[in-house]
Amino acid sequence: MTNLMTYPIRIMLTLVLLALLIAAATCTSPAPPLVSQPPPKPQETATPMCTRTLNIAHRGARSLAPENTLAAAAKALEIGADMWEFDVAVSADGELFLLHDDRLDRTSNVRELFPGRAPWSSHTFTLAEIRQLDFGAWFVALDPFKQIAAGKVSPQESARYRGEKAPTLREALEFTRQNNWRANIEIKDQRGKPGDATVVEKVVALVDELRVADRVLISSFNHSYLERVKKANPAIATGALVSTPDPDPLALLRRLGAQAYNPNVKAIEPAEVRRIRDQGFDVFIYTVNDEPTMRSLVEARASGIFTDFPQTLKPLSADCR
Ligand code: G3P
Ligand code: CA
Repeated sequence: MTNLMTYPIRIMLTLVLLALLIAAATCTSPAPPLVSQPPPKPQETATPMCTRTLNIAHRGARSLAPENTLAAAAKALEIGADMWEFDVAVSADGELFLLHDDRLDRTSNVRELFPGRAPWSSHTFTLAEIRQLDFGAWFVALDPFKQIAAGKVSPQESARYRGEKAPTLREALEFTRQNNWRANIEIKDQRGKPGDATVVEKVVALVDELRVADRVLISSFNHSYLERVKKANPAIATGALVSTPDPDPLALLRRLGAQAYNPNVKAIEPAEVRRIRDQGFDVFIYTVNDEPTMRSLVEARASGIFTDFPQTLKPLSADCR
């Protein structure tokens, strides 16, 4: 066979092979270097994120743009947040999309478009129906954080927010990857709903398909979901959300194989943050909007802070991108 190949053909084949290798190496930009502190213990892979407190835009920069939309993500990116957090829900036809509440009516015009479908539970609407809804107009009308009134949102931005759609999880992750960014995927508890059986595996499959495992932290208040994440892909970092203090956070994390403890700010003291961090785990705290608390948590070496005001946290935390 080799004898049949003339020298020029072999050179040509070698060049084609080289070009293919270079293309494969450059077509997706690799995730930025990941660092964490202190070094993980043998069985514990600490969330590899940052050597200083991460600025995590809660549901995007939701004080300046409608929550859980790509507009809020773009705003957070523009501010220089290290990552964004968003909530994942499941539609009636099993599609994953971004929404915080169980119902669609607080953040969309669903009452207007589907008046006969009260109480507008999100899992009773198909993705096609959800995509008809406007998830931006309510923000402009209600100005929930009074940032439009304060002149922090330009009239052009407000105009653009009207008609904003609920992104699918695929769109949210593609946005994250395209911008060389990071995301915290919070899987909303689907217990009692049809989505419960497969939501975790669907999220992980998409994370794997889009090759963003090194850019995401998956969290949930439903801790059995975190175990399912690890079963599906042990390389994905997970965070245990708690609204009240867990009696033994370290035991909880070890039991779940999780990397991070994600407590409500009211459920943790700075000394506890230090203690957990010293054991090689991460601590991401929600939702902190006031500057003095941000400062005290940065000082306590919190791994990250979820905030509706990434613009306030920005000067207090490092740029870790
Ligand atoms: O992940 C932190 C925070 O988002 C959890 O609470 O209710 O805002 O989703 P919630
Ligand atoms: Ca959330």
